[in-house]
Amino acid sequence: MSAPLEQPLALITGGARGIGRAIVERLCEDGFATIILDREQEAGTALAGELSDQGHNARFEPIDLADHDGIRELVARLPTPTVLVNNAGVFDNKPFFELEGGDFTRMMNINVTALFLLSQAVARRMRPGGRIINIASRVFLGARNHAHYVASKAAVVGLTRAMAMELLPSGIMVNAVAPGAVATEMVATQSDEARAALLALQPTGKLAAPADIANAVAFLASPRTDFIYGQVLMVDGGKSLGGGLGL
Ligand SMILES: NC(=O)c1ccc[n+]([C@@H]2O[C@H](COP(=O)([O-])OP(=O)(O)OC[C@H]3O[C@@H](n4cnc5c(N)ncnc54)[C@H](O)[C@@H]3O)[C@@H](O)[C@H]2O)c1
Repeated sequence: MSAPLEQPLALITGGARGIGRAIVERLCEDGFATIILDREQEAGTALAGELSDQGHNARFEPIDLADHDGIRELVARLPTPTVLVNNAGVFDNKPFFELEGGDFTRMMNINVTALFLLSQAVARRMRPGGRIINIASRVFLGARNHAHYVASKAAVVGLTRAMAMELLPSGIMVNAVAPGAVATEMVATQSDEARAALLALQPTGKLAAPADIANAVAFLASPRTDFIYGQVLMVDGGKSLGGGLGL
């Protein structure tokens, strides 16, 4: 009799709500055990409970990605995953002339430095066949009123490519997904004006659903997907085409 197949494990940061939650749900459906890493204890615990009740293997581990020492300690006591999804991120709107150095430091600490530290700690232990999937954003191409966020997501794209090169010899595939505007709290908490402006720029006339982003992540996480390194998969409803949808 052949030995039972080990269930692959996926770690998903920011998995308690929004895009992260959709990724957790989708990877569970696809047969992964999942660990939800988030600072939102109540939502994370509730989601893990819901998924476990449905027969999935899901658990929650609290983490504040601003605590960089805590990242290493957490990874040291977690089982080694097959897939790491760096999804957690923070966003805010501030015009260029109002931005201060501290705004950059706070944004970079979560969106970039924590992503790097977690990836490094996990990659040290990952076996060949491992996958790291970074959630960037279409804004790396440029956007108004949040230069610090744009810069952080451009850094995620750069890191994705650098990591893909350095981790390829270890058999680890690193890629990024770059969503356009997605219907989550991150967008819901914007002003009516800001949300209307987002919709006006959307060729599809609607925002992406979190599941649209989860589909792309599931593709990159699938053991059937191979030979793709350092790519940025745009899931933005055509927005990055530059508005040239007519003649
Ligand atoms: N919503 C969009 O339109 C959109 C577009 C492009 C890219 N993104 C990116 O997708 C990712 C998810 O976005 P979302 O819309 O689901 O956001 P969200 O704000 O709804 O959820 C983010 C999750 O990350 C967690 N998180 C934030 N900071 C954390 C920290 N310091 N430690 C631990 N957990 C932390 C939050 O608790 C939350 O559960 C982010 O990286 C975001 O930049 C979102």
